[in-house]
Amino acid sequence: MKILMVCLGNICRSPLAHGIMEHLVQQKGLNWEIDSAGTGGWHVGQPPDRRSIGIAKKYGLDISLQTCRKFDVLDFEKFDQILVMDHNNLLDVRAMARNEAEKNKISLFMKDAIVPDPYYEDDQFDPVYQMIEKRCKEFLYEYTSSI
Ligand code: 4NP
Repeated sequence: MKILMVCLGNICRSPLAHGIMEHLVQQKGLNWEIDSAGTGGWHVGQPPDRRSIGIAKKYGLDISLQTCRKFDVLDFEKFDQILVMDHNNLLDVRAMARNEAEKNKISLFMKDAIVPDPYYEDDQFDPVYQMIEKRCKEFLYEYTSSI
């Protein structure tokens, strides 16, 4: 399974989803590929936001070596699932899909909810981390039924 986590900036939410999911699949010995990207290109080449690095560190995860990149149309070919954090991401990524098969790869990471953007709210990084971790575990359970 190849999964791409997508948010707006690829510095706050999707790097957390990337790091958490990667850690969980490694723990389970699954040969899955996890990556992340942003629909916007403002931070390309940069590491994740220091607050995302900090909250991940608090929970024992190092995401500091990730590098921000922009979502590319070729990602539709490289990944089986493209999991987006909110409705704007959904609209932006859908607009780039070239056919139904590509559209069908896109879904909301939280299924029926969004992961709110914590960029302007320092105190939201902890709840966002918890929310993402819970959903990653659920996702893995749905796919492997063994957590
Ligand atoms: P993210 O948060 O989409 O969770 O990475 C944001 C990061 C940067 C910006 C917006 C959202 N920005 O406008 O630079």
